[in-house]
Amino acid sequence: MVYNFNAGPAILPPAVLEQAQAELRDYHGTGMSILEMSHRSAEYEAVNEEAQARLKTFLGVGDDYQVLFLQGGASLQFAMIPMNFLPENRVADFLLTGSWSEKALAEAGTVGEVRAAASTRAGGYRTVPGPESIALSERPAYVHLTSNETIHGVQYHEWPDVGDRPLIADMSSDILSRPLDANRFALIYAGAQKNLGPSGATVVVARKELIDSAPETIPAILRYATHAKAGSLYNTPPSFAVYLIGLTLRWIETAGGLDALAERNRRKAALIYDAIDGSGGFYQGHALPESRSLMNITFRLATPEAEKTFLAAADGAGFVGLAGHRSVGGVRASLYNAMTLDGCAALADFMDEFVRTKS
Ligand SMILES: Cc1ncc(COP(=O)(O)O)c(C=O)c1O
Repeated sequence: MVYNFNAGPAILPPAVLEQAQAELRDYHGTGMSILEMSHRSAEYEAVNEEAQARLKTFLGVGDDYQVLFLQGGASLQFAMIPMNFLPENRVADFLLTGSWSEKALAEAGTVGEVRAAASTRAGGYRTVPGPESIALSERPAYVHLTSNETIHGVQYHEWPDVGDRPLIADMSSDILSRPLDANRFALIYAGAQKNLGPSGATVVVARKELIDSAPETIPAILRYATHAKAGSLYNTPPSFAVYLIGLTLRWIETAGGLDALAERNRRKAALIYDAIDGSGGFYQGHALPESRSLMNITFRLATPEAEKTFLAAADGAGFVGLAGHRSVGGVRASLYNAMTLDGCAALADFMDEFVRTKS
């Protein structure tokens, strides 16, 4: 057995994997797997519709919003969003809090005019911007933020006030980790492979009015309206990934819903942050306390060699996936919804013990 702290693809609830395994050879008496079934079948349509409906319920949105299951990862959204919603002679504002928001800005910049309305880069991306350091355009096409920066371990705990400007958020690494009123967002998107299911599907939740505002001059496959009109069945969808998302959404319900998960996620993260803060400087947390991520906890040891020794010892003890992103190094513990409190307590104990043996 291992404790899986991978950043994504990442740990899935064992109950979800077990149900998928049990249904793999014979889905609901059809004599075949979801993997082998037409996406136009009644069975898959039910999976697709149920997953969409559950997501809308969790996010508190009504029929003025559309849930889409797309492919191409969150990275394709970096391009699709400006293609659909950034017309000539308008600008898109970006709040930069780490590598993913930088990438989103760079990609949108190939399509139209973009500007950084705030950036915490100068401080090494250790916080989200405070209200005083956000300078929004008067009438941007939209404002884009990254709710949780997976690489730097920085997360919004309060949403910035953008007035009536359309707000778009990349929620790849913290969607459904806490209650969310999605009505304040024009569009949110998330690669599924962290909190929602496996890789291969991207969830988009968008206001229908926004979707309908896009020009018809862009290729059909890249237009949200195409997928909305077809109920995410325009072309062959990532059907097995959507099925696993559906099982994961049911698991969230069984686990007590978003309030219960948020409480558990707070307690999980506190165990690791306490191990960092109680180490007398042996571990140095990257994010400043007020912007600490509850999903991706990033920290360093005194030297890259010490980090290598720590990671090797952790791996040997069954704590896997703890290496920081290759672009920044260090250590990163990803504590998505499926990671248990016990797993976090075990890692915290290991970290405490490691300090004792090395100092
Ligand atoms: C916040 C965030 N945005 C975007 C991405 C890119 O996602 P994908 O690999 O699905 O394109 C990631 C991947 O880890 C991420 O964490």
